[in-house]
Amino acid sequence: MVVWTPLKFNCGREIANRFVIAPLTTDSSHEDGTSPENELEFVRRRSASGFGATISSAAYVAQDGRSWQGIGAAHDGHLSSLHRLAAAMRAAGGLAILQIYDGGRIAKPELIGEQVLRAPSAVASLRPGARTPRAMTSDEVENLIASFREAASLARKAGFDGVEIHGANHYAVHQFFSPRANHRTDKWGGTLSKRMTFPLAVAQAVRGALGPELIAGFRVTPFEAEADGYTLEDAKQLCNELARLNLDYISVSLDDYRMNRPARETRVYNGPVEKVDAPAENPITAFARVIAGRSAVMASGGIKTCVDAEGAIKLGADLVAVGRAVVVDPEWLAKVRSNSEASILAGLPKDEFEIAKTLSIPPRMVEYLLSRPGWIPRL
Ligand SMILES: Cc1cc2nc3c(=O)[nH]c(=O)nc-3n(C[C@H](O)[C@H](O)[C@H](O)COP(=O)(O)O)c2cc1C
Repeated sequence: MVVWTPLKFNCGREIANRFVIAPLTTDSSHEDGTSPENELEFVRRRSASGFGATISSAAYVAQDGRSWQGIGAAHDGHLSSLHRLAAAMRAAGGLAILQIYDGGRIAKPELIGEQVLRAPSAVASLRPGARTPRAMTSDEVENLIASFREAASLARKAGFDGVEIHGANHYAVHQFFSPRANHRTDKWGGTLSKRMTFPLAVAQAVRGALGPELIAGFRVTPFEAEADGYTLEDAKQLCNELARLNLDYISVSLDDYRMNRPARETRVYNGPVEKVDAPAENPITAFARVIAGRSAVMASGGIKTCVDAEGAIKLGADLVAVGRAVVVDPEWLAKVRSNSEASILAGLPKDEFEIAKTLSIPPRMVEYLLSRPGWIPRL
């Protein structure tokens, strides 16, 4: 089966199988962006089950762009913690990839203190209670690109095999690409090609900092479910340009890869499934066609079994990222590999204390998972 075969990235690094741990924020880092032992153990135990690669939780590149109490890759003070994280992610010899992000207009006011939210334009997110950010100056835009570059350079120094730019799920890179969030009239906004300028500049900066021998990936939301959002056609053009920059992979962020439903900016976790006016073409297939082998394609969303993974590969993916299934069952991949899928844990235990204790999930993360009842299955 393809899923158990290795794959060589453009940069020359090889992944031993096609299974990747999806980026999973634990919301449990220390306030200074370093990782406590329970956060490392969450990752170590899951990576130990034999994934070809683990992608870290999203690391903030700038203090005033934090959306989670997560890890930081913003200055030298983060280096030793990042080093420990990379080691934990390599628990079974798989590749360690650091995901880096900026929150832009969805940074969390409690985490950024007195600072005013800053974003491509002074347009509030659709999230309930969202504050209106101020538009970034041109210098600030350049500084943010430099922060991404610096984060990639920290990743290299900390021993990661590569970096994934978080260009999905409504964070800052996505905001620059979105006509809903980006109303700028300078070189960073306006036409589709101008809205691509920031994501491409970040990709170039990251590639430059990593050099040609480390993995550079980019995660993208394939289209916006909101009215007036960017379309799948727009995202195909972005992927085409990213592939021209010789990125190693493009990751397609979907809630369910078969349902063609990307995450909305206003996430509803326990309400009815929202209807999305989705394009007929599956984004994985669409991107695979446009990219045409120049970069690998990573699928995600609803992968719970080997058959699911093979299904994504058939649609055109080269790699599959697994999220909630490994949150719920840290030994998920070992069970898939040994044909013991019947023993995979189907949901979090009823008893809250059992969750932290038996599944190595930091207590803060347990709290946040349970606050979104429809999101993570419960036994
Ligand atoms: C607890 C949790 C934290 C997440 N944190 C991140 C993150 O830091 N970066 C990111 O790109 N996606 C994040 N995601 C999204 C997942 O990477 C994945 O795309 C999504 O859960 C769908 O895949 P799944 O059905 O396998 O869970 C998170 C998901 C969960 C459940």
